Amino acid sequence: MQDVQTARPTAIPAAQNTIGRFTTRDTQPYQYRWDLASRSMHYLRSRGVTLYPVERLRNRFYRSMLKRHAANIPPLSEPRDAHILNSLRQDGVYITSLSELGLDFSEAAHSRLTDICIDLQRQPLPPNEFVAYAPSEDLVEVPGLANWGLQPRILEIVENYLQLPIAYHGMHLRRDIRNLLEARSRCWHFDLEDNRTLKMIVYLNDVELCDGPFQYLGSDDSIELRQQMNYRLGYLDPESVDKIIPKSRWHSALGKAGTVVMVDTARIIHRGKRSERTDRHALFFDYTSRKPKRPYYCHSLLTPEAMATFANTLPEKHLPYVFWRGIPSHR
Ligand SMILES: [Fe+2]
Repeated sequence: MQDVQTARPTAIPAAQNTIGRFTTRDTQPYQYRWDLASRSMHYLRSRGVTLYPVERLRNRFYRSMLKRHAANIPPLSEPRDAHILNSLRQDGVYITSLSELGLDFSEAAHSRLTDICIDLQRQPLPPNEFVAYAPSEDLVEVPGLANWGLQPRILEIVENYLQLPIAYHGMHLRRDIRNLLEARSRCWHFDLEDNRTLKMIVYLNDVELCDGPFQYLGSDDSIELRQQMNYRLGYLDPESVDKIIPKSRWHSALGKAGTVVMVDTARIIHRGKRSERTDRHALFFDYTSRKPKRPYYCHSLLTPEAMATFANTLPEKHLPYVFWRGIPSHR
C-alpha cells in the first residue's frame, strides 16, 4: 500500500487547467479521494473483496481475463530479460541496477534528481512523520524520467509478468527519514491494489542494513505467513511476523545508489525497515493491470497539473497505460 496519509497531493482545483491536449479534469479519476464518505466506501469495498464468495468470483473473473489476454502478450525483445521474468515469477522479486539493466538515467536526469533530493532533505517535517515526497511538478520535468517507466523493454517485462494489459501509475520520489517510528509501510504488509502488481524501486543513495532498506519475505514464507495468520489485509508488527517467519529468514534489499528492486508487492509481504543512520531516497515506478482488484486504491501521486503535463508528452500508443480508466475523448 502506498502511504496515502502522507502522500496527499494538492487539492483538485475547481477550475480546469488546459495543458496541451489534456485538462486537469481529465486526471481527476486518478486522484485519491480524501473525503470521509469516499474513504469509508473504499474501506468497506476493500473488506468486501476479502469475503470468500466475492473473492472466488473475482478470482474466476481474473482467470478469464488472463486467458483472454494470453495470446496478446508481447515476446521479450532482450534474451537477458527472460532471467528477470523467471525470477519474478518464481520469487516475486528481482534485484539489479540501472547499469546492469542497461537502462540508466541520463546525466542530466541524475543531476536534476540530486538537486530534488537536496531540496527534499531540507524540508522540515513533523516529529511523528517518517516520509516526505518530492513535488511531482519537479519530477515530471526531470529529463526522460516519467517516460523511463514506459520504455519498450520495461513494458515487455511488466506485461509478461502481469499477463494483462498494463496500467502505469507513474512515479514518485520519497525520502524515508532516519528515525525510529514504526507505522504503516514500516510494518509488514502486502499491497491490496491488484492480484499482481509490479513496483520498480530505484535507490538514489547507498542503502545498507541501517539505512532503511526494503525488506521482504520469500515467496513461500509470504504464503506461509498468510495461511498461518489467516492474514487478509492490514499491517503486522515485527514480533508477530517473527513468531512465524523468524528474522533469520527476512531479506533486505541492499545496494549502491542505482540499485533497482523489482517486486510484486501484492504477493510478497514486505516493509520499509526504519532507518537508523541516513535518510533513504528512492524512486518508485508502479504498475498494475487495467482491471485491478481494488481500483479505488490505484491512484497517481502526480498532481493534476503534473499528470496532465506528463500525459501531454506521450505518444498516442502510450496513453492507454496512463489513462487506463479510459482515454479522454475530447482530444
Ligand atoms: Fe507496500
